[in-house]
Amino acid sequence: FPDREHLVHALAEHLLALAERTLAEGGADRPFRIALSGGSTPQALYALMAAPDYARRFPWARTQFFMVDDRFVPHSHADSNGGMLQRLLFDHVPVPKSNIFLMPDSGASTEAARRYEATLRRVTGLNTLPTAGNTTTPPLLDVCLLGMGTDGHTASLFPGQDVLSNHTDWVAACTPATAPHIRLTLTYPAIAASRHVIFLVAGADKQAMLARVRAQDTSLPATAISGLCDVTWYMDQAAMPLTA
Ligand code: 6PG
Repeated sequence: FPDREHLVHALAEHLLALAERTLAEGGADRPFRIALSGGSTPQALYALMAAPDYARRFPWARTQFFMVDDRFVPHSHADSNGGMLQRLLFDHVPVPKSNIFLMPDSGASTEAARRYEATLRRVTGLNTLPTAGNTTTPPLLDVCLLGMGTDGHTASLFPGQDVLSNHTDWVAACTPATAPHIRLTLTYPAIAASRHVIFLVAGADKQAMLARVRAQDTSLPATAISGLCDVTWYMDQAAMPLTA
């Protein structure tokens, strides 16, 4: 996509189409479940979704919103992904509060990870994590929206943190060496149990990492996730390599 505006418009329409299709196929009581990432790139998407032209078309009452990851800080903290989503999106659209599942922001981080996993189990009705791969029915999530940091991290899964790649838990607490705050994050198998895994990556500063993913650099979380399930990439022109 030529630039970020076109990129987020295309992605927003794709999310709407996935929501409509999921709800049409899933029956009256089957919500559309999406997990959202934080960071700066998706903020343009969330602002667009909150704007009236789009908001009036989206099935907010039948969508459940989850977090891909968060910094283990109060939601009022400037670095909180949940707080950012509340301010940019949830405060502006008619989504029922009972459809919003932010990650816990208090207590002990490992216990908070267990609590969020319990929430996922309760809300989805799943007892075991569906096997990785997009064919799992029912999936844990319909859509998992991921970004990628300039250091190659995705969600709060950082290169070299092998311990998370074979996690049996659905949610983990981790203390990255290269990023601030303790983190709570969906694990590789939890992300890979999504019907659609979508990466939104923009900006020239992501080019090097994308090149390493294209080269199948297995030290990168995005490569590991691509090996577990089908993923869709949304990138602007700047993020694409000059030599296509
Ligand atoms: C986080 C995000 C993270 C994000 C990348 C990219 O908590 O940091 O969930 O995984 O997707 O850091 O962030 P930018 O879009 O700001 O580059």
